[in-house]
Amino acid sequence: MTYTRIDVSLAKGAYPVFCGSGLLARGDIWKPFVGTGQVAVISNNRVLSLHGDGMTQQVKAKTVILPDGEEHKNFKTLEIALDELAAMEMRRDGTVIALGGGVIGDTAGFAAASYMRGVRLLHMPTTLLAQVDAAIGGKTGVNRPHGKNMVGAFYQPVAVVCDTSTLATLPSREYVAGLAEIVKYALLGDAPFFVWLEDNVVALLAQEPTAVRHVVETSVRAKAVIVAADEHEIGDLRVLLNLGHTFAHGIENVAGYGAWLHGEAVAVGMVAAARLSEKMCGFVAADTARIIALLRRLQLPYAFPNIDTDTLLCAMRADKKHAANKLHFVVMEAVGRARTIEIDDETPVRQTIEEMR
Ligand code: NAD
Ligand code: GLY
Repeated sequence: MTYTRIDVSLAKGAYPVFCGSGLLARGDIWKPFVGTGQVAVISNNRVLSLHGDGMTQQVKAKTVILPDGEEHKNFKTLEIALDELAAMEMRRDGTVIALGGGVIGDTAGFAAASYMRGVRLLHMPTTLLAQVDAAIGGKTGVNRPHGKNMVGAFYQPVAVVCDTSTLATLPSREYVAGLAEIVKYALLGDAPFFVWLEDNVVALLAQEPTAVRHVVETSVRAKAVIVAADEHEIGDLRVLLNLGHTFAHGIENVAGYGAWLHGEAVAVGMVAAARLSEKMCGFVAADTARIIALLRRLQLPYAFPNIDTDTLLCAMRADKKHAANKLHFVVMEAVGRARTIEIDDETPVRQTIEEMR
């Protein structure tokens, strides 16, 4: 069984992301990253029943079960996780293994960051979205009624294990939602990858293993480069990963967490970013049409739901990426070339939303 190792190189040292099929059962690869103290596998019933066995046989661990779903990515669930770690008397030499999608990764990651001011964290993402994005780069946190991922911490894992064989059990809606974040990497920095995606829609929808490995590894590499250069999103690079996300977080917040999958909202957000880019920086309409065509073929949404524009704008203003009275957006100058802009006058944003119903 071959696997690929991609390192995320940070000032404090590098950590590996292992990509390949069947890696959860390969304790020889990931056990060296587990600490000497107690181990907790934080997951949910669904993922544990599908993928827990081979993995939990590798290491003596207590399982902590959290409720499933974006609507549970909140303080209450975080508290359950923290109390379970305390009940098992985990010390600072303990390790949290987050086994699941982005919701488990973000919640368990924040629990690992805050429990005793930090214990080891090992990510084992089991959704496409989490393998290509959420498990890499150290963003952890939970939602609040005021905004998505409103409370959290940057907390890097010691390793990430992307077992692509776990994706076979994903409901197709979840798999397709993960493809949106992959399109994002192409749009923000890799025009040839965009063409590759256009040429490989059929293979991707059929989940052909080589195509899946290619998109996972290409995305992990792209994210590793960005995170290495701008770990805490204080420069102008990591922020580009938020392409489409201001619109997306607005949709998720207004529709109610869990109603839209994150990747679905990001797909609509990327079309909105393209349309806004036409107005703000000369992005060509023909490329917006290409983006819509690709998303449509990937079975992703590309239009706003029927929600009131003012309510959506209000939720977008609350998104944490916005400084006082200014909306910040990632726009594209061309497919594969993105940058940020600051907007004082919301008119083009409002127009974008209204023309995309
Ligand atoms: P998710 O974690 O809710 O998982 C989707 C569903 O699939 C869940 O019901 C889950 O139990 C189930 N599931 C997971 N693995 C499975 C498998 N292999 N087979 C069958 N079912 C499986 O959703 P997601 O799309 O993975 O993650 C979305 C979350 O990630 C959002 O909260 C988003 O904000 C966050 N996110 C975080 C970052 C980051 O940098 N930290 C980046 C992107 C997204
Ligand atoms: N998903 C955005 C980031 O990790 O920065």
